[in-house]
Amino acid sequence: MGHFILIIAALATSVTAKDCMNLTVPVTISSRNGVFNNYATPETNVDATAFVSNLTRQGQNATADALTGYATISGTYHISAQYCQPSSGSKKSIIQVLTHGIGFDKTYWDIAYNDFNYSYVNVATNEYGYDTLIYDRLGIGLSSHGDPKNEIQAFLEIAALAEMTAMLRNGTILGIKRYSKVVHVGHSFGSTQTYSLTNKFPTLSDAIVLTGFSPAAQFVPLFGAGADFQQANLNQPLRFGNPTTAAAISSVLKEDVCLSDPVVQMYDLTDVFARPVDGTAPLNYPNGYLTNSNVDSLQYLFLLAPFFDPGLAYYGEAGKQPVTPGELLTLGSIPQSSAFSGPVLVFTGSNDLPFCGGDCLNTGGLAAPSIPALAVEAFPSAKSFEAYIQPQTGHGLTMHYNATAGYRYINEWIDSQGL
Ligand SMILES: *[C@@H]1O[C@H](CO)[C@@H](O)[C@H](O)[C@H]1NC(C)=O
Ligand SMILES: *[C@@H]1O[C@H](CO)[C@@H](O)[C@H](O)[C@H]1NC(C)=O
Ligand SMILES: *[C@@H]1O[C@H](CO)[C@@H](O)[C@H](O)[C@H]1NC(C)=O
Ligand SMILES: *[C@@H]1O[C@H](CO)[C@@H](O)[C@H](O)[C@H]1NC(C)=O
Ligand SMILES: *[C@@H]1O[C@H](CO)[C@@H](O)[C@H](O)[C@H]1NC(C)=O
Ligand SMILES: *[C@@H]1O[C@H](CO)[C@@H](O)[C@H](O)[C@H]1NC(C)=O
Repeated sequence: MGHFILIIAALATSVTAKDCMNLTVPVTISSRNGVFNNYATPETNVDATAFVSNLTRQGQNATADALTGYATISGTYHISAQYCQPSSGSKKSIIQVLTHGIGFDKTYWDIAYNDFNYSYVNVATNEYGYDTLIYDRLGIGLSSHGDPKNEIQAFLEIAALAEMTAMLRNGTILGIKRYSKVVHVGHSFGSTQTYSLTNKFPTLSDAIVLTGFSPAAQFVPLFGAGADFQQANLNQPLRFGNPTTAAAISSVLKEDVCLSDPVVQMYDLTDVFARPVDGTAPLNYPNGYLTNSNVDSLQYLFLLAPFFDPGLAYYGEAGKQPVTPGELLTLGSIPQSSAFSGPVLVFTGSNDLPFCGGDCLNTGGLAAPSIPALAVEAFPSAKSFEAYIQPQTGHGLTMHYNATAGYRYINEWIDSQGL
């Protein structure tokens, strides 16, 4: 009987599973980066907090304070990606390219928790017939890492996204067919990169969806402060550290003993015991890569209680990803307005922290229905513009109970653009 149930469950899963392939895309790119040599790379947790103090000091622009000049960074980098099609085969010659934000990797769009019940990719492929490409942003996760201050910056990451998109359009990514229509979907920092991409290269994209986004910049310091940044390799030594240190620490940490002790169980050891997925090597981040401190800071940044499963918050904490000082110093370097002439959907949680200060409907008296709606002014050439507020949701849209209803809204919108 037990076996029979297992077999049925396995069949049920394979019927609904999308058809995916993992791949590494080599991109040869260059960008004009900031040189931030007035600031030393944060090497310790004291430095990490001092850096945040610099970043959030009132009346000061840390980007200008740190900047000593500009330099061209060039190289061939590797982008770790997952390409998916509907389980019943490709339906449309349109691909969605999804760029994650800070604190996550490509799995933000395809969360495995509860049998992929929160997966954007499942909805886009199996319910709406789109093909999808999710990827780890350059510098993060299984993509190439680099110098966290002067190399891994927004500009180089946008160059990687542009190159990958051009390769999709001319069919030069090994194993992926040629696409004449590309929709870019971003979250947070991934939305600001999508915004910059389509301003600089307005013909690379046929439509854009900016989730967890607004044109307001004044609330970003809440994110910097609320993260309580620490060195990634100290915060999750087994997962983010170097293989030698990780092995040494792993040999003295008695996980089974700790987690079965009722006294120890009162303490959250998620980060101490977080390990790489299925026996892969530790991610080996150098000093300077920073991460939020624990599950409570993750909640403050991304989640609105009580509209999420606490189990998913712990899952997200165990699988979180870091951010670089170079990214934090360049994430605000986006143009005031965009030359993009396709359709634009801005889709933001009602209680988004970094882009709405926790309340998207409180515009402080400005004549707009919401803070994200103010983005219409940044798109003077757009074919159409819509701002949608997803109710009962914080900044981390994919981690809330009602997430899939939001994915359906987004995909209905894409369907209605007549691409
Ligand atoms: C792709 O990689 C993920 C994470 O390592 C793994 O869970 C998944 O099984 C892989 N998928 C395929 C189709 O190989
Ligand atoms: C903070 O700013 C000061 C003054 O600009 C600078 O000397 C210092 O290196 C900065 N510290 C960090 C950790 O960024
Ligand atoms: C901060 O300084 C940078 C670099 O000089 C500049 O590009 C940016 O516009 C400034 N930001 C603000 C809000 O003034
Ligand atoms: C997935 O979500 C649906 C609706 O939100 C719920 O009814 C179902 O129990 C969930 N399944 C799992 C495996 O969590
Ligand atoms: C395809 O696009 C890439 C990225 O722009 C470019 O490097 C490459 O030369 C193009 N290849 C062909 C065959 O058009
Ligand atoms: C769930 O999301 C959908 C799509 O945005 C929305 O119409 C619906 O009202 C939401 N449900 C709740 C309970 O917030």
